[in-house]
Amino acid sequence: MNAFKFNVMAGSILFGLLVVFGSRSFINETSKNEPLEKSAYEIIVVDESTKAEALAKKEAPIEEKKNLETNIQPIVANLSQGKKIAKKCAACHSFNKNGKNGLGPNLYGIAGRQIASIKDFKYSPALKAKGGNWTNETLDCFMIKPKECVPGTKMVFAGLKKPKQRADLIGYLRSLSDTPPPAQKSPVAAKAPDVPKAKESLVAKKEQPTPKDIAKAKVIKSKAKLAQKSSVQKKPPLKKGDELFNENCQACHQADAIGKPGFAPSLTNPELLSIASDEFFIATIAQGREGTGMPPFSHLGAENIKAIVKFLRKHEKLPNRAKEVNAQPDAHGDPRLGKQWYDYICSTCHGLGGNGYEAGGTGTAIGNKTFLNTVSDGFLRVTIQKGRSNTRMLPFQGPEGMANLSDGEIDDIIVYLRKLAQSE
Ligand code: HEC
Ligand code: HEC
Ligand code: HEC
Repeated sequence: MNAFKFNVMAGSILFGLLVVFGSRSFINETSKNEPLEKSAYEIIVVDESTKAEALAKKEAPIEEKKNLETNIQPIVANLSQGKKIAKKCAACHSFNKNGKNGLGPNLYGIAGRQIASIKDFKYSPALKAKGGNWTNETLDCFMIKPKECVPGTKMVFAGLKKPKQRADLIGYLRSLSDTPPPAQKSPVAAKAPDVPKAKESLVAKKEQPTPKDIAKAKVIKSKAKLAQKSSVQKKPPLKKGDELFNENCQACHQADAIGKPGFAPSLTNPELLSIASDEFFIATIAQGREGTGMPPFSHLGAENIKAIVKFLRKHEKLPNRAKEVNAQPDAHGDPRLGKQWYDYICSTCHGLGGNGYEAGGTGTAIGNKTFLNTVSDGFLRVTIQKGRSNTRMLPFQGPEGMANLSDGEIDDIIVYLRKLAQSE
């Protein structure tokens, strides 16, 4: 990026952090064999006070510089936008100081924090083994696709594809701190409405603030307070699971969540309840399934979503084996053979491209990325083996099976489905 462009941007951007995408990557360290090209970049949060320093750092090796000139994509992080995006996380994470751990750990002060360091949270061995701190780069990598960034993580989240969304989110996460990382102690960051401590930040600035600056900071501070208050007030009222289900879900999923072929699947189906984890339900309800008729419900708030899951669990008839199913090994097989089986048997109900109802089928969109990102290969394998009683999804193994597929053939299909979602 040349100096002129930088000045134009830094000058015109008042509210927000400047995030610059460069070329080094965290991914290379985490998934050694398969670096992901599209996520191979670095984010540097730059603002007025650290601009010179950050640029100076970039001067050194000529080759790297060349790279930077072609690859850098400056992105302005909008904190209030970031706060909105963070609602997707609220089903599992709290963001307030000393907030409780949910399905995921509390995220106050996450920027700069040591990875997997909350004492009373049970992290996956994979995340614990990661080491290092949450920097812009590591956060960005984790937000693209948690499961690819840290294979084995128990965070079920589809990921944020758009760099702008991730930049906004990371900008917001950085603001959740008693001692925001240095780049934030600047007038630029201080003016962002979501950052508390606006005045302190101004004081930390080297130049003298003008009276206008201070007045503005005051207004901003009170606005931030107001925003905090109203977000507390706006917290959705807590309700019972059955009421919440009737209000929000019954129109599509029907009474007692028995489902309706070609319209919405059964949620109280015994086989589904037996192999689906709470994480799967919470993630699906909070995020919806992009590109299908299943909308996101993150606005209901974590507690209400949990209440709905509890309501669904009341219909449980079979022992819960979600843990065991999710711990099954990943599928290995031949996607070409998988495609043949898929096109021949599964496409009638699930659509040739795995688009489900969209394609006029009675089965769900099993080629959908959001779906595939929330389920393990074990979940897919057992669903195909056992089917779902009282739905059109018959078992594909055993004497009542529609076709008696071998374990290998089922794995071929799973490998094909995963490939289908990637090539979308
Ligand atoms: C369905 C639940 C769920 C959702 C939704 C979710 N997370 Fe997580 N998150 C988790 C779990 C579980 C962990 C612990 C992961 C592990 O131990 O492998 C985690 C861990 C993390 C960590 C590491 C924390 C630490 O202490 O090292 C970060 C950062 C994080 N999540 C950010 C987010 C953000 C940002 C979002 C929204 C864009 C989000 N998560 C959405 C469940 C979730
Ligand atoms: C506008 C219709 C609609 C509403 C309202 C709706 N859903 Fe859905 N839901 C769907 C559709 C359609 C699918 C299947 C999407 C697909 O093809 O993958 C689905 C799928 C799901 C799944 C995945 C089930 C599986 O078999 O994997 C869950 C869980 C779910 N919905 C829960 C809920 C809950 C809880 C609510 C209420 C808070 C709700 N849905 C509201 C239409 C809806
Ligand atoms: C006769 C129609 C039909 C055929 C053929 C069929 N399915 Fe299904 N499948 C369904 C229906 C219907 C559901 C959802 C059950 C419900 O509505 O509650 C489903 C659900 C699934 C699910 C769970 C999806 C989710 O949203 O949780 C998977 C995975 C699946 N099918 C895989 C397959 C595979 C692989 C094949 C081919 C070997 C196949 N199905 C063949 C009708 C079918």
